[in-house]
Amino acid sequence: MKYLEISGGRPLFGEIQIQGSKNAALPILVSCILSEGTCRIENCPEIKDVEDTLQIMRELGCGVRRLGRTVYVDASCISRWEIRATEASRIRSSVLFLGALLGRTGKAVLPMPGGCAIGSRPVDLHQKALKQLGAVFLNQEQLQAECREIRGGRIRLPFPSVGATENCLLACVLAKGESRIENPAREPEIDELCSFLNCRGARISRRRDGSLRIQGVSRLEPGVWQIQADRIVAGTYLLAAACTGGSLCVHGCPEESLRAAAGVLRRMGAQVWNQEKRWAVAVKERLQGVPYVETRPYPDFPTDLQSPLMAAFSVASGRSRIRETIFENRFSTAWELRKMGAQIQVDGNLACIDGVRRLKGARLQAPDLRGGAALVLAGLQADGITRIERTEYIERGYEDICRDLGSVGARIRVVQDTGG
Ligand code: EPZ
Repeated sequence: MKYLEISGGRPLFGEIQIQGSKNAALPILVSCILSEGTCRIENCPEIKDVEDTLQIMRELGCGVRRLGRTVYVDASCISRWEIRATEASRIRSSVLFLGALLGRTGKAVLPMPGGCAIGSRPVDLHQKALKQLGAVFLNQEQLQAECREIRGGRIRLPFPSVGATENCLLACVLAKGESRIENPAREPEIDELCSFLNCRGARISRRRDGSLRIQGVSRLEPGVWQIQADRIVAGTYLLAAACTGGSLCVHGCPEESLRAAAGVLRRMGAQVWNQEKRWAVAVKERLQGVPYVETRPYPDFPTDLQSPLMAAFSVASGRSRIRETIFENRFSTAWELRKMGAQIQVDGNLACIDGVRRLKGARLQAPDLRGGAALVLAGLQADGITRIERTEYIERGYEDICRDLGSVGARIRVVQDTGG
């Protein structure tokens, strides 16, 4: 078994080039099966969820090659529409193959998706929307659907679900006629997927009211795309400096993608600058807590930074509260942080944090992807040594958190426990 070992108490100084975005790369890779020919995806992060997605694509008959951060996907001959790969029940984004396979072949069979245990994560919004486009679901144990042809239609999402928006887009681009998605997600990753599809011949536009209009086309060309920087990884590292103090610069994220997180950091008393795709944070003394922060759909404070923010609040002065409004079970990090001496009370979807001056190193288990990253941040601030197990969660979304944080002064390493 391997674990992360962190020796805390050092401020962070330096610059980090941010990896490509997991949540942009996954739908963009899946969209490659909509075209015959080879797509080239650049700056594709080297993370577990991407590897799992590429494995599923190989099972479907795609030719897949990776050269460093460049991935080539040849979907000329999709030989199957049934996914059995165990990878599909490990990751949440496998559900996107539903819309893409229906769009390409008119059939899809795949297991219920996986993903972090941060809530029940149903797929009812995906199914309801795809039914409105003509899909017929054949059973409930797995996702089995078919449609003679996807017909353009009007879909109103009751909640701006990121995945359901992406699934609709993947199904609509080759539909007969025009589609409208009302109340779609507005995350930057959605616009990036639309841009990639449009550069391949799709006709997608976002209207003033935020809805998406898709005019179906008969075919999509393969294309080339460079994945944008991961705003959640960038925000995680800015929050690391909020825990340890110091001065950090992260490169790659446009202004609007980190605006909400920067706002909370400023309310904590950090100095935050942004110039084009360069973000800098300076923390000279202990930060203050913030009375109330709520996670909301983009462009508000992102749920994926909720756990890292909880770590920062754990060592800020005073009382902070976070309300998690997106997922119903995303406070598991609190129980691990308490092992380090954090003072956190959880009541339903509200966490109340009374900051302490120093956390204590402890032996911890990552509860999920972003919770694992939050424990790293806490370990960077803590006295003594922190050991974090179940690092496979962190590897799902962070290319190399040891490389990144080690490059700016953190004492962090991977230890292979031979169990001797
Ligand atoms: C995407 O998950 C991201 N994952 C998540 O990032 C992110 O937290 C989430 O969007 C919200 O921004 C990927 O992009 C791979 P949703 P997704 O559909 O699509 C409910 C990370 O750490 N819902 O917007 O699954 C759902 O239960 C991960 O990188 C339904 O009820 O999120 C949740 O409460 C974690 N029915 C809410 O909507 C549905 O059919 C938001 O889910 C679908 C969703």
